[in-house]
Amino acid sequence: MSADAQNNRLVVNKGFKKFDDLQVLDDIDFVAEPAEFVSIVGTSGCGKTTLLRIISGLEPATKGEVMPGEERVRGPNLGIGTAFQSDRLMPWRTVKKNITLGLELRRRGKAVDRAKVDALLPLFGLKEFSESYPHQLSGGMKQRVNLALAIDPKVLLLDEPFAALDAQTREVMQTELLRIWGETKKTVVFITHQIDEAVYLSDRVVVLRRRPGRIREIVKIDLPRPRELSVKRSPEFNEYVEYIWEQLEGDVKAAELDERSMIAGEGE
Ligand SMILES: Nc1ncnc2c1ncn2[C@@H]1O[C@H](COP(=O)(O)OP(=O)(O)O)[C@@H](O)[C@H]1O
Ligand SMILES: [Mg+2]
Repeated sequence: MSADAQNNRLVVNKGFKKFDDLQVLDDIDFVAEPAEFVSIVGTSGCGKTTLLRIISGLEPATKGEVMPGEERVRGPNLGIGTAFQSDRLMPWRTVKKNITLGLELRRRGKAVDRAKVDALLPLFGLKEFSESYPHQLSGGMKQRVNLALAIDPKVLLLDEPFAALDAQTREVMQTELLRIWGETKKTVVFITHQIDEAVYLSDRVVVLRRRPGRIREIVKIDLPRPRELSVKRSPEFNEYVEYIWEQLEGDVKAAELDERSMIAGEGE
């Protein structure tokens, strides 16, 4: 593998995480290959965000290591970009200035080439909105800016970035993400609890089980690319969704029971 391609490879090796007595992640091992799209699915509370925070260096693992390329993650890492469900936009800055500042912060204050920002705007379908302020943007547009802020590095981590969007906007953003991924060849780790979203987007889907969060299975999605939205109506697509759902079904029920007992407990 070339040195450059090697840099886009992400290795998570024996990741363990405990919060006090709660074992949240247990022996998590996986590799995202260069330019691969990997999704992580699992029920609420199974440790997806914790895993992502560990990969991005925002949270230390109790044990194990994360390596984008050759180097081990020891703290917030310039080689990894992260986007979360809620955007991190500054309301008093225009789209263009938000992107410029975001890229500068990521580069620890180093000035960003104006041409670079100008090239990102059309890539994310934001050209007409470059002088708009966040409050003038729809949810989907805000998420485009949020993704643009994270795209600079070679490994892109996305934590349920479309969860707050309505169904149609969400589908538009899924196709947009695939287009951007195709054009930029990033390695993507995408977290979602929506199984059809994971199947539609991914080369492989990592299915997590809960308490403790372990990898139940890694499912390879052999659907041809480029993928049109109509693939979601194909029998092959639905077989994948069904299969992953079966893996998660027990966990979903257990999570629901937990929640009910918590609500019951609150009333005591
Ligand atoms: N900082 C923390 N301190 C203690 N427990 C935490 C902390 N962050 C997350 N947890 C617990 O770890 C578990 C996994 O959380 P999280 O990674 O947010 O799950 P998910 O993103 O899959 O919904 C939950 O039970 C949560 O309460
Ligand atoms: Mg989460």
